[in-house]
Amino acid sequence: MRVLGIESSCDETGLALYDTEAGLLAHALHSQVAMHAEYGGVVPELASRDHIRRALPLLKLVLTEARVELADIDAIAYTQGPGLAGALLVGASIASGLALALGKPTIGIHHLEGHLLSPLLSEPRPEFPFVALLVSGGHTQLMRVDGVGRYELLGETVDDAAGEAFDKTAQLLGLGYPGGPALSKLAEQGDAYRFKLPRPMLNSHNLDFSFAGLKTAALTLVRKEGMAAAADIAAGFQAAAVEVLAAKCLAALKQTGLQRLVVAGGVGANRSLRSRLDAEAEQKRFAVFYPPLALCTDNGAMIAFAGAMRLAEARSRDGRFTVKPRWDL
Ligand code: KG4
Ligand code: ZN
Repeated sequence: MRVLGIESSCDETGLALYDTEAGLLAHALHSQVAMHAEYGGVVPELASRDHIRRALPLLKLVLTEARVELADIDAIAYTQGPGLAGALLVGASIASGLALALGKPTIGIHHLEGHLLSPLLSEPRPEFPFVALLVSGGHTQLMRVDGVGRYELLGETVDDAAGEAFDKTAQLLGLGYPGGPALSKLAEQGDAYRFKLPRPMLNSHNLDFSFAGLKTAALTLVRKEGMAAAADIAAGFQAAAVEVLAAKCLAALKQTGLQRLVVAGGVGANRSLRSRLDAEAEQKRFAVFYPPLALCTDNGAMIAFAGAMRLAEARSRDGRFTVKPRWDL
């Protein structure tokens, strides 16, 4: 089965083709980061218009690279939400238009499910069940994943998402938008021990997070110490964020009794977080899995893959069905 994936929830247009036999055939991405940078954040109307401009050329690129004809696609998966309404509508209407023209089904995918399953796109693939840390610009959650569609929320941020805190702190340090990767780079030149930033909710005895106070602490330091201390502030901020994220992952593994951790979402690209989790995994004997770096941030491959998994699961049910009297979104 060949599934076309379309991601357009925010500021990246991603198209990809996933084949359940051959794996990922091709994926193409256009990032709007440069376009939004001068406004200091994503401008929804500009995002929608750019998705319209980019989607079909990217589709052609993906088909050419995969050497697949449009008619040979079996289904079209698109990001149904959450995200910017106008941006989502672009992907959804392109998917629906193609589906109508080709007589193929569409499947709407939850953006976070795309991130959550993305580590399964590369080898070694984690087996179910696993604990997943989802850390993006919009979300910070710990989930227990028992299979496709079987997700249990273990904890989440009570205020800002981790990526949002990286971005806001980066902005304070004059690093532009989105500043997560730039902050991480600057932090490598700084002294993480010069300023001890708070570790919010480190000892909260639950799996929730809080990052708003960390950003405020960084602001106070910027006002007091000035920009000369920017690298040390960045390093202090990153050390605090990584420590909390790592500690909560360990607590989630302990609480669930699982020994597999999957890290997904844009902040999952952070080198300091990865090396901390790798060290913990070696010491505490659990396995940690990441998507390939290029698939950490938003992309079409994770949507095509999640669509293929969902369709395969639906087919395997083969006439059997269940209902969900209680069903959290
Ligand atoms: O998953 P993603 O592409 O989009 C959302 O669904 O939000 O994540 C984007 C977020 C941004 O906040 C960005 O600054 C952050 O991921 N990010 C990073 C790094 N790379 C991306 N944060 C810290 N270190 C990085 N290396
Ligand atoms: Zn995302």
